[in-house]
This record gives sequence, structure tokens and C-alpha cells, in this order.
Amino acid sequence: MLVAPSILSADFLNLGSEVQAVCRAGCDYVHIDVMDGHFVPNLTIGPLVVQKVAQIASKPLDIHLMVENVSSFVDMFIPLNPEFISIHFEEEKHLHRMIAHIRNSNIRPSVVLNPHTSEEGLKYILEDIDMVLIMSVNPGFGGQQFIPNIYKKIQNIKNMIIQKNPNCLIEVDGGVNDKNIALLKQSGVDMVVAGSYIFGSDNYEKAIFSLR
Ligand code: DX5
Ligand code: ZN
Repeated sequence: MLVAPSILSADFLNLGSEVQAVCRAGCDYVHIDVMDGHFVPNLTIGPLVVQKVAQIASKPLDIHLMVENVSSFVDMFIPLNPEFISIHFEEEKHLHRMIAHIRNSNIRPSVVLNPHTSEEGLKYILEDIDMVLIMSVNPGFGGQQFIPNIYKKIQNIKNMIIQKNPNCLIEVDGGVNDKNIALLKQSGVDMVVAGSYIFGSDNYEKAIFSLR
């Protein structure tokens, strides 16, 4: 299981050392939640702060954009050279074009589905993306309860991936912990985001290891 700690639950007064600590503790990616106060009812950080994080992170960035005006935000984050940029299915009208734009910028494109969003629409873009990010909470905040009916959706998406693009990864974001990780793995998940579970623990290495 690949593990991407979400810095949303990090101590922002010590963001640099928090990022270095999870990288040292063996995470695979650093998950960055960008919120604009419109697409979700919360505000977080923008490209200025993320650029600083990119400079000190020894692991690649996994950027999750929870924003309106996706295209202008994508263009702000491309120069930071993250591994993945994830954009929400619900927000971008020209998803296919935006995926191609991310790919042509040498960044791996990923599409995010909110808990209520059907996986049906993925059919037409699955071959063009490297990852599907499945929200297991309503986006906007860390520390929320995992929504259990997401398992069925994960399995449906796994079946679509096997048929259409076996290299495409499945990432799950929200409420992930040591209690649900085994079932997530069994359901076909390749990578998990964990914020409060990792940053709320007193040993990041142990927390990451317990998810892996
Ligand atoms: C929620 C964010 C998540 C969040 C996860 O909108 O996308 O990445 O930080 O936090 P936990 O793991 O605490 O649910
Ligand atoms: Zn996220």
C-alpha cells in the first residue's frame, strides 16, 4: 500500500519540519489539499506555500485541488512539478482537455470523485489518467468519519480499471486508519491518504508502517 500523509493535519507552525518528518518516516508521497473556500467550505494553502513544501520534501507531491476555476489553479501548480495533480470530476466541464493539459506538462493526471458522484463518467476518461482518487469523506476538512458505502464503489472502479487501464492507480482519501486499511487493500486500493491518523499519532513511522 502506498501512503500519502495529508499535511492538512500537520502543525502549520512547524510545517517544514512536519513535512521532513513524514518523508523521513517513509511515506511515498506528500498529499497537499488545496481548498479555495468555494468548491469546499474551507480555505487552505496556495502555490506560494506549496512551493516551499516542494523545496524541502524528499518525496514527490500529490496535489489535490478542491477549487473552482480548475484551469487557472492547475497552471499555478504545474511549475512546482508534483507527481500527481488531482482534479474533481464535479468541477471541470472540459475534463478530457484538462487531463491532456496536465499530461502534456509531464505531470500524472488524476480525477477525484466526491462520495455522491457515480463512477459511470469515468468510463470515458479512464484510459487517459494515471489515478482515480475516491473521496471517502465529503471534502473540506480533516478528521472526518469514513463513509462505509464507498467500498462498493472502489470495487466497481477496480473492475473498470482492469478492463480499460490496468496501470491506473486507486487512491482513497478521508477517514483512513488502521481499522479500515485491510478492507481497503482487499477492495483494490493502491494508495491511501491519511491526515489525522498519521499527524495525530506520536510516532509517524509506526503509523505509516501500520497502513503499509
Ligand atoms: C479532505 C482532504 C483530506 C484530509 C484527510 O478534504 O481531502 O486529504 O486531509 O484527512 P483525514 O485523513 O484526517 O480524514
Ligand atoms: Zn485530499
